[in-house]
Amino acid sequence: MKKNILVVGSGGREHALGWKLSKSQSVSKVYYCPGNGGTINNLSFSINDFSKIKSFALKNNCIVVVGPEEPLTKGIVNELSDSISIFGPTKEAAQLESSKSFAKNFMRQNNIPTAEHNIFSEPEKAKDFVYNTNKSLVIKADGLAGGKGVVVCDHKEDALNAIDSIMIRKDFGNSGNMIVIEERLFGKEVSIIVLTDGYTIIPMATAQDHKRIYENDKGPNTGGMGSFSPSKIISNDIFNDVINKIVKKTIHSMKKNANPFVGFLYAGLMIEKHTGKPYVLEYNVRMGDPECQSIIMRMNSDLYDYIKCSISGTLDTLPPISWSEKPAVCVVMAEKGYPSNHAKGNVIYGLNSHFGPNVKIFHASTIRNNNKILTAGGRVLGVTALGSDFNKARSDAYDSVRKIHWGADNHYYRKDIGLDT
Ligand code: AMP
Ligand code: GLY
Repeated sequence: MKKNILVVGSGGREHALGWKLSKSQSVSKVYYCPGNGGTINNLSFSINDFSKIKSFALKNNCIVVVGPEEPLTKGIVNELSDSISIFGPTKEAAQLESSKSFAKNFMRQNNIPTAEHNIFSEPEKAKDFVYNTNKSLVIKADGLAGGKGVVVCDHKEDALNAIDSIMIRKDFGNSGNMIVIEERLFGKEVSIIVLTDGYTIIPMATAQDHKRIYENDKGPNTGGMGSFSPSKIISNDIFNDVINKIVKKTIHSMKKNANPFVGFLYAGLMIEKHTGKPYVLEYNVRMGDPECQSIIMRMNSDLYDYIKCSISGTLDTLPPISWSEKPAVCVVMAEKGYPSNHAKGNVIYGLNSHFGPNVKIFHASTIRNNNKILTAGGRVLGVTALGSDFNKARSDAYDSVRKIHWGADNHYYRKDIGLDT
């Protein structure tokens, strides 16, 4: 019997996951909670209203697919999995992302390569440590901080200021009750994402994102201004090293600790410049956004089969995922001013232009209002193209971007997405 899907979340990642699932022969209807202006069958309840999500999914024969970390961290899988098929890690397993001290201790106990670290719950002791070291440091709030709780320090002053901000001023609330002070690593950053049922590991295609707001990786960090797949810097050797020495160890150690991890696991890594070895900077317990948009464009296999078998613990019955040889590029169109102050509520024009069969416009912060689509936040659209090579994928993505606007000068996008980094 065909199933319905309920995608939890409202970003470009969730639009891409739902779009791909809607193409499956096994899926009848895809609902989104709450979805965005580009998705249909939107439900108006919050991503954290687990009882409404549960009763809707029960009544409508839905498999629940959770996009963002917040409901995972709050235990949506723990609350629903007795009566519903739900894809994602439990809140205990989601600590790999929600608690940096948990993740660091886990890595240390299981010999997973990562930077040296110390954990502090008292600001004075943390400051003493800073005064007494001559290493370059990174200061991290223990809990979730919307990607803003990490300070990479050039000087001791930066570290002391970060301790004040996180632990004393509590700029990230209780997420700053503890901090991790880490040795700073230097090298190239890459990420590798896999799908797992807690035992079998199926890698996703490699991808890279562009985190900074301006071209050439200048300016403040953002949620991600674009992505491309495959990665241009993950060689086969690095890939195999990461899968064998990091990802397999992570998944098998979580299982051994009676904490099996089911879902997408994202390992954020630094390839250390002197040794060429990968070190884990962070885990995410979900797909990357906007990496997901580029990855999904290249997926030939039926995503539904992989999600279903992850939930039932039978991923070992499936072959590796088949990927298009063609690269994909996703250009994020944002409100001008993002990631600082920016407008919203602008009418978006050009969405009905002819974009061609290899282009998909994934919506993020948009809403539908009387047949118009309005901007609703910082990152608005992820214009994604699949091309015979990177140049073609880039030119198709940018040709499509130029057909879309909201006012002459209100939107912003980086011009160098998919170029060598
Ligand atoms: P995290 O959320 O822990 O990945 O940190 C966010 C960003 O901070 C990473 O993507 C890196 O750019 C940087 N970062 C984190 N840890 C380190 C480290 N030990 N050395 C250098 N940069 C780091
Ligand atoms: N693009 C990085 C992330 O999703 O965390």
